[in-house]
Amino acid sequence: MGKLQEAAERKIRDICRRYVDEKTPLMMILSDIQNEYGYIPLEVQEVVSEETGISVAEIYGVVTFYSFFSLTPKGKYVIGCCLGTACYVKGGQQVIDRFSELLHIAPGETTEDGLFTLDALRCIGACGIAPAVTINGTVYPKMTASRVNEVIATYLIEEEKAKGVAAE
Ligand code: FES
Repeated sequence: MGKLQEAAERKIRDICRRYVDEKTPLMMILSDIQNEYGYIPLEVQEVVSEETGISVAEIYGVVTFYSFFSLTPKGKYVIGCCLGTACYVKGGQQVIDRFSELLHIAPGETTEDGLFTLDALRCIGACGIAPAVTINGTVYPKMTASRVNEVIATYLIEEEKAKGVAAE
């Protein structure tokens, strides 16, 4: 978002005012902002602070605690690797390490081309199919490190096809 544009700032203030009667509005406000813009940078947190009277430190704490919120723009494809107990014991760490190695990004980062973001998640409630990975809401059950290449390749092929269509 860079320096906050007037229209964006107005919209953020409007979102805050939606919840003015709520006792604990912060999660609702931040969820709406995350859904609308895809991330919640510091300058946005400052506006939320002005509107709600909640300190920027507290808002920052919430944004950085929950993996659903992000301080930076996410990639086109958001890869969520579950590292909850069930997934961890079934090899979740090897899976995320392989994504990390292949995409040259650490968990929480986005590839330079803006295509992939890698996130480490806590239990997503799918322990029966551990280790679980989600990519933009599609769940990959019983994921293995050796399938990571193939999964990434399917998204890269989609991208190439989309570019081909755009070039026609
Ligand atoms: S621990 Fe991964 S889905 Fe529950």
